[in-house]
Amino acid sequence: ETMESVTGLADREKEVAERLQVDRVIIVPGNSDRYSWVKKELGRACIQQMKDMLQPEDIVAVAGGTTLADVAQMMTPDEKFSSVTFVPARGGLGEKVEIQSNTISSTMAVKAKGNYRLLHVPDQLSREARESLVLEPGIKELLRLIRRAGIVVHGVGAASTMAVRRGAEDDILRVLQEKEAAAEAFGYYFDRNGQIVHKEKTIGLQLDELQENQKVITVAGGASKAEAISAYMNYRPSDVLITDEGAAQAVLGD
Ligand code: G3H
Repeated sequence: ETMESVTGLADREKEVAERLQVDRVIIVPGNSDRYSWVKKELGRACIQQMKDMLQPEDIVAVAGGTTLADVAQMMTPDEKFSSVTFVPARGGLGEKVEIQSNTISSTMAVKAKGNYRLLHVPDQLSREARESLVLEPGIKELLRLIRRAGIVVHGVGAASTMAVRRGAEDDILRVLQEKEAAAEAFGYYFDRNGQIVHKEKTIGLQLDELQENQKVITVAGGASKAEAISAYMNYRPSDVLITDEGAAQAVLGD
């Protein structure tokens, strides 16, 4: 790679950061819509960020999805993770086991030689079930850990892609369409202005409860996610966005 293209990427990182009001943007080369290895590079960059931001004894809450699964795959043992506990950000969202946040947080912990705790909650809970589950001592303890997370790591998806992948019912698909949902993250759906238009019925991280001192790392690449990334950042600009050239170009509209 030439020096010129390296400098070019740094410039783009600043442009995207300004456009999305995100503190720090990291762009990896390529477009993950086209090549799966680009997601692995997103994963590598994400782990480096986590290491830079970690405090001893930190709780790291991780969301689900194929991007986060690749982050977990890229994890390697590091002394920095030995006192860290990985927890899933929220309960089940109707995804395959391999890309559920429970699986991803435990995989990350095992590979990092850190610690993990699981949150066993089925998908699509009724209100009654949620209300009684959150009183269970084991679950209460997990929810307390999730709320204390120093770092939250998550992906972003295009709303329609995510709803279809999770087998959303027709009435939900209709709501998402009517309200022009553009993005999905943590089981929350957002329109292009960053307004929440739908929430999956599960427990765990409540986005509106996130404090200033809780650091959020967003990992999302591919030109197809540009609109979703912008929409989500209108809700709450993350501390760090890790993305790829494909998405960055589309976010900047060129
Ligand atoms: O929660 C999942 C994310 O919104 C996106 O998933 O990484 O498979 O695209 P993905």
